[in-house]
Amino acid sequence: MAGNGGYQVDSYDLDLSYDPSSNTLRSIAHIKGSVLSADGLTRFNLDLQPTMKVTAVTVNGNDATFRHDGAELVITASALLEPQAGLSVDVTYGGQPDVVRGERGVDDGGWFRTESGGAFAAGEPISASAWYPVNEHPADTATFAVTATVPDKWQVISNGLRQTDDLPHPGPGKSIFRWKLDEPVASYLTTIYIDKFSLVEDTLPDGKPIVSAIGPNVPGGKDLAVRTKKVIAFLSGYFGPYPFESAGGIFTGQSSTAIDLETATRPVYSGGTIDSVDTEVHELSHQWFGDDVTIKRWSDICINECFASYAPWLWKEQVEGTDLDRMWKRQMSRAVDQPDFWSSPLVDMGPGQEFTSVYDRGPLAMHALRKEIGDDAFLTLLKQWPAMYGGKNASFDDLEAYVSTLSGRDLGSFMDAWFRGRVVPPLPYRYPGDLGS
Ligand code: TRP
Ligand code: ZN
Repeated sequence: MAGNGGYQVDSYDLDLSYDPSSNTLRSIAHIKGSVLSADGLTRFNLDLQPTMKVTAVTVNGNDATFRHDGAELVITASALLEPQAGLSVDVTYGGQPDVVRGERGVDDGGWFRTESGGAFAAGEPISASAWYPVNEHPADTATFAVTATVPDKWQVISNGLRQTDDLPHPGPGKSIFRWKLDEPVASYLTTIYIDKFSLVEDTLPDGKPIVSAIGPNVPGGKDLAVRTKKVIAFLSGYFGPYPFESAGGIFTGQSSTAIDLETATRPVYSGGTIDSVDTEVHELSHQWFGDDVTIKRWSDICINECFASYAPWLWKEQVEGTDLDRMWKRQMSRAVDQPDFWSSPLVDMGPGQEFTSVYDRGPLAMHALRKEIGDDAFLTLLKQWPAMYGGKNASFDDLEAYVSTLSGRDLGSFMDAWFRGRVVPPLPYRYPGDLGS
């Protein structure tokens, strides 16, 4: 039910206040977009979890009627909205945001409380609808901004750049924060973190700000944030220029909810300590693969996760001197006679299976692809894919077509064996290049 038809969103701008002591959120969401339906629209849906209660909706400045049914907010405009016309929707709502429990193998997402009494929003595929009305579909990317008022001593961080000019007065005993992301992203990549955190700031070599939030109970958080700069420099060497205007991370320090997610400009690392650099390499590589290039459908998830799960291999190879062929052979020899490892494919895996194979089978397939097309073509792929599809949606089919172009031959059977098959890749595809020796 997530995602809706008939329109597309260009921007979300939230004006919210949050009280951590009662977990109460009050907000007006300002949503701008346009009508896609060729016949125009009178009625359309936004996704919003039932914990959020809506009190008013306007469409293009006019009061609209609405019905909130489960996680669907059904809005009826007072007049027909013409095809192509601009759409401006204001939704006034509030309540006690909560975690949305995942179904069918899908993880929980939404609004999580922190052990220090704060809160953060994260989740994939569902999270945004836990705290604002949204077209919760990965293909409908939009810019995002939030102005948040909280009691004094609490702080707020979100995606993009911090705004300090011309903020309204928050009222006595309150503090106000504004964050704004001008590059359009999918809604699961938006986040907010409200807590008594500290900020670690730095800049990328090109002057873009790095701003990281370190939760009150995070050991060694400062070192983790400092590492961000190094990892982004490393990844830029492979993937090309860092695609956003700002960078950083959100280190909430949760021992109970170990969620790591590639939220735009500022991934959430909520697992407390991140003792290996792999997680940071993984989430930051998503800034190119997933956040800048976005998927058309959830079943295209491999174009996010297969790359992001291969990025730590690149780090291991270059920074730690690991022999990747040996690592691949070791993993392969364990997997080769395990039917379960291969039963869920990397594309068109079926609902609820999106994340079953991408993290372990994904990097094995990527390394096989590298061997099949050779290092030059593979390195071109890593750089050209974000250059071609940055700021756009892409599908696995687009990737397949591009690697065939790059290699100068039809890779169809190889790709079928490694990415689409439900059994171990048959010979001769199983050991490309010198991986069989
Ligand atoms: N995309 C996340 C990552 O690669 C993993 C993930 C999948 C996730 N589903 C999630 C994280 C739900 C949080 C909630 O790191
Ligand atoms: Zn990932």
